Amino acid sequence: MKRIGFVGAGPVGTTFGVRLAEQGYPVVGVADLQEESAARFTRLVPGARRFGGAQELVDAVEVVFLTTADDAIASLCAALRWRPGQIALHCSGASTVQALEAARAQGALVGSIHPCQSFADVEQAIANLPGSTFAIEAEEPVRGLLLEMARALHGDTVVLSSEDKVLYHAAAAIACNYFTTIVKIAADLWTRFGKTPADAVKAYLPLLRGTLANIEAVGYPRCLTGPIARGDVATVRRHLAALESQAPEIAVLYRELGRHTVPIGREKGTLAPEKAEEILRLLSGGGEDAARRVQP
Ligand SMILES: NC(=O)c1ccc[n+]([C@@H]2O[C@H](COP(=O)([O-])OP(=O)(O)OC[C@H]3O[C@@H](n4cnc5c(N)ncnc54)[C@H](OP(=O)(O)O)[C@@H]3O)[C@@H](O)[C@H]2O)c1
Repeated sequence: MKRIGFVGAGPVGTTFGVRLAEQGYPVVGVADLQEESAARFTRLVPGARRFGGAQELVDAVEVVFLTTADDAIASLCAALRWRPGQIALHCSGASTVQALEAARAQGALVGSIHPCQSFADVEQAIANLPGSTFAIEAEEPVRGLLLEMARALHGDTVVLSSEDKVLYHAAAAIACNYFTTIVKIAADLWTRFGKTPADAVKAYLPLLRGTLANIEAVGYPRCLTGPIARGDVATVRRHLAALESQAPEIAVLYRELGRHTVPIGREKGTLAPEKAEEILRLLSGGGEDAARRVQP
């Protein structure tokens, strides 16, 4: 089996190292600018050793993961000497394999494997990696190697072209990062009635777990609940009045997300066309002309 090494021992490099080694892949070492990060890697990956520098590691293994921050991948890759047939990989969702062009120009094979997962710290990353979906961008034979790795990590896979990669990553940022932002915006509203955002987060966690469970159990559009799904025009009107008077900057967001929620309610079948029209009129600021027709 090809020996594997990691340049960059942040949450992602370390987690791949730990989980691939567990599955029997020969993870032989790591190079990182931070002594502490490299030491953590070698502590967590049995048999792995710290290399003095990235080039020393590249010279010693057949498969190299460049798991630095995105901005460093291309310049790091260009600063290294690669052997024909060697495999250079990265785990970025926003960068394409173009970032590894310098390795390819020297005869190396290139690819990327992006875990569709959020890693806030190493411990949580090690727990969450198995079962994630992995987005793979590579030609054969690297594609086969990455599909096999994803399977070993009990994950699903999606194979992407370079052209689709950035939109794929923007979509993941909406689903994951903006979800986090939306919860914070909602939690901060609690300060307007004398409670703390921490109180709100505590209250929301069971709600959010229930929401995720609904998405998983019944899927879209049946998972949508709330006043728009019910066609409860009066409640939407009251929400808007409260937000306009107490948090007008958030009313803008409420209106925009509401416009994207109406079609889900229509598709679910619980939001009648005339109620949908009325809600869209309210969300658009009340003008008859601003109402958009929604298709069932
Ligand atoms: N975090 C996530 O949720 C997530 C999810 C999916 C994919 N990814 C992708 O995974 C990759 C790694 O992410 P991460 O969050 O683990 O990154 P990170 O926390 O920035 O860790 C990268 C490590 O690489 C080191 N490094 C930077 N340049 C180096 C060099 N020339 N030689 C050796 N070591 C070097 C860094 O040291 P310094 O601190 O000194 O720079 C740091 O310890 C990125 O491409 C990212 O887009 C991340």
